[in-house]
Order: sequence, then structure tokens, then C-alpha cells
Amino acid sequence: MKFFIDTADINEIKEASSMGIIDGVTTNPSLVAAVGRSFREVLLEICDAVDGPVSAEVTSETCDGMMAEARELSELRDNIVVKIPLTPEGLKATRICRDEEIKTNLTLCFSATQALLAAKAGATYISPFVGRLDDQSGDGMAMVADICDIYENYGFETQVLVASVRHPMHVLEAAKMGAHVATCPLSVLMQLTRHPLTDRGLAKFLKDWEKVPK
Ligand code: G3P
Repeated sequence: MKFFIDTADINEIKEASSMGIIDGVTTNPSLVAAVGRSFREVLLEICDAVDGPVSAEVTSETCDGMMAEARELSELRDNIVVKIPLTPEGLKATRICRDEEIKTNLTLCFSATQALLAAKAGATYISPFVGRLDDQSGDGMAMVADICDIYENYGFETQVLVASVRHPMHVLEAAKMGAHVATCPLSVLMQLTRHPLTDRGLAKFLKDWEKVPK
């Protein structure tokens, strides 16, 4: 299973990468706005800091506009994946990107049938937003289970990238379902590292170590 970090903050990316657990990065317009720097400057810095795929989102709503952005973004660095909203125009752009060998991440997916369409259009990744669906009394992980089943049934190569991850249980369930990727904020990645018994055990070992004659 791959872990991507869901942020545009280069310090967070470096912190997570130094633990050796990061395979890529996802960003979105809100995350880029939060760092208060130019999109291109931040994107190039991220692409140069990580080996794996870096998702950069288009902000046009028409296929033509998305394609102009997709072509420009994909020229910037080899590891850029163009993030496209899951709309009819986005599906058109996805098919063109597939034909032009531009990698895509279909975002804002809230149903398994949307994910089926993304796979048929040739998306490289599908991003089901589990936390936001849970927020609306939906079941985000049930959607991911359905997507994994459907992709398996038909042998689609689109990778399931679980997004809008809010807590470690989302990651655990995604791993058990065989999702290819979970993209997590740094806070969730840090939660995954911790266990109270690890802290308690370490404190005891260090206390006992003081008794050892030096
Ligand atoms: O990058 C997309 C996604 O992970 C957003 O998460 O927490 O804003 O729902 P969130």
C-alpha cells in the first residue's frame, strides 16, 4: 500500500518523507491557498523534494480549459499527475489525457458509479472522499469497498486513492480492502505512528536503564 501526504506545505512533506513512509503527494486548491505562495513555485518545490507522483489540480470547468492546464502542468515535471474534478467535462478531459499519456487523478468522487466512469474514461487514480461523505451521514469506506470490488470484477487498472482521510481507522480499513493508496494529512500520519503502550514501554525501559551500572 502506498501513502501519499495530503498537503502543499513543504515542511510537512519533508517531515513525513524523512520517516521513509511517503510515496507521493496530493494537493488541492484549498491546500495551496493555505500556504499563501504561488501555485507554480510551491508545485515545483514539492516535485523536486519527492520522487513519487505529485497531484496538481486544474481549476477550469470546461474540457478545453482543463486540457490547456493539464498540458501545461504535465510539461513542468515528469512526476506531475493532473487532478481533474469528476464532472462530465472532467471525464472528457480524462479521456484526452489518457490518449496523450498524461497521468490523471479524478477528484471529488462521492459514489462507486462515478468511480466506474472514471475508470472507463482511463483515469490513472480515482480519489473517493471518505471523510466528506461520512460528514454527510454517508459511509465513505463502504464506497471504497464497492469501488475495489467493481475494479477487481472488470480488471480496471485505475488505482484507488483513498482521500479525505480523517483518522487511522480510515487507513486501516483501506489497507484491509486492498486500496492502492491512502493520502493523509500529516496529523493522521503522526497518529499512525503512536501507541500509548509504545510510550509507556519506552518510559519504563529508559527508567530501568538508569539503574544499570555505567
Ligand atoms: O485532497 C483531497 C482531500 O484529501 C481533501 O480532504 O479533509 O478537505 O475533506 P478534506
